[in-house]
Amino acid sequence: MMLSDTARQKIQDVRKLYPSARGALLPALYIAQREHGWLSPEAFRAVSRELRIPEATVRGVASFYAMFHKAPVGRNVIQLCTNVACMIMGAESLVDLISKTFDVQPGGTSPDGRFSLIIMECIGACGTAPAMLVNTDFHENLTAGNILDILERYK
Ligand code: FES
Repeated sequence: MMLSDTARQKIQDVRKLYPSARGALLPALYIAQREHGWLSPEAFRAVSRELRIPEATVRGVASFYAMFHKAPVGRNVIQLCTNVACMIMGAESLVDLISKTFDVQPGGTSPDGRFSLIIMECIGACGTAPAMLVNTDFHENLTAGNILDILERYK
C-alpha cells in the first residue's frame, strides 16, 4: 500500500508549515492514514521517507496515539470510553449493546466491515459521560436509548 502522489504532496506541503520534520509528523500520519484507513508498514516507511526521519520514530509516535490504526479497520471506527466516569454512567452496558447489535467485539470489526469497536481510556468528556468518537465525530451523554440511533447514521 503505497501512498498516492497526492498524499505525498500533501505531506510535503504540511512539512513546510513546521520548523522541523518532527513537527509535521502527526499531520503526516493523518494524511497517510486517510489513504487506506490505517497505517501499514509501507505507510510508516513512506512517511519516514517523505519527512526524512527514522522509521522507528514514525512508528513510535504512531504507537503512542490511539487514533492511529496499526491494523485494518472497518468503514467506521467507534472509540467508546469505559474509564471511571463513563463506567459509572453505564458505558459497559453500551459496549454490550453495540457488540450485540452490530456483531462487533471490542478490538474487532463487524463481519460486514461497517464498524470497528475500540475501548478507550478517558477521551476528555467525563462531565458528559458516557462518550465516544465515531470516526472524527464526538458524541456525549450516551444512553441505551440514543446510542443506536447515533450509530445508525454511519453506514
Ligand atoms: S472517563 Fe470517559 S470521557 Fe473521561
